[in-house]
Amino acid sequence: MRVIETVAELRAALQPSRRAGRSIGLVPTMGYLHDGHLALVTESVAACDVTVVSIFVNPTQFAENEDLSSYPRDPDRDLALCREAGADIVFLPGVDDIYPAGFQTYVEPGALAEPLCGAFRPGHFRGVATVVAKLFNMVQPDTAFFGQKDFQQVAVVRQMARDLDMRLAVVSVDTVREDDGIAMSSRNAYLDATERRRARCISRGLFAARRAFEAGERDAARLLALAREPLSEMDSVQYVELVDAATLQPVTGAVERPAAICVAGHIGNTRLIDNIGLDIEGSRTVRDAA
Ligand code: PAF
Repeated sequence: MRVIETVAELRAALQPSRRAGRSIGLVPTMGYLHDGHLALVTESVAACDVTVVSIFVNPTQFAENEDLSSYPRDPDRDLALCREAGADIVFLPGVDDIYPAGFQTYVEPGALAEPLCGAFRPGHFRGVATVVAKLFNMVQPDTAFFGQKDFQQVAVVRQMARDLDMRLAVVSVDTVREDDGIAMSSRNAYLDATERRRARCISRGLFAARRAFEAGERDAARLLALAREPLSEMDSVQYVELVDAATLQPVTGAVERPAAICVAGHIGNTRLIDNIGLDIEGSRTVRDAA
């Protein structure tokens, strides 16, 4: 496994593979890797000849009051995990490699970036789309792998790739959960033991709603009520919404097309998000641990 820090070196390292027609997979991450990230690496290693993992805590997707400076980092551990998972290249650029002096061009996503997290994190998806577009240009992967936990991010990135004629497949991989149902997230590291226990309420509500959906319940309000009920254990709920999986717009009345219930809020000072798919065609079901 090679560890590469500059864009020039990355392009040079990938050129022979590209010339030889070998397929390239990209797993973009912000590091502090957990089993959710490693599932993406494993998918890429299985599907592609060469797997590149990028590790970059992207400043442009954090607002002023967010956790950029405290975002957890452990590059040595990340490298060991990537090696173990079979990655070929880890790209570890510095901020100046991605945003050199004079940088001024951004990717502005459209309507898919407006609801849900977009309403609470102004500029977040602009930062995500910009860095992901840059990583796509640097690596030129055939396939890029993203976690379904970031449901809206996957939708925004897919739309960007379509709109900007990026020639690659965007694959989303099921959320990996702890045994007690909590979705894996680098931010879980912020939780103390009591908060960690309280955080279970998010997946508990989502699983309850999905069980009802699988038993035939189609009324969006009733499904939402099931997801919302345990969230009284959270310190704040930013949103709990049942949205159309394609448009991310709220569903009212009956759920008749693939949909998802999405939640965001705080346990203590930690912002957590999670979601569950309701009959999302082609997606594998999330392991129900609650
Ligand atoms: O999902 C993440 O970790 C980040 O948003 C991404 C896709 C690596 C872009 O910085």
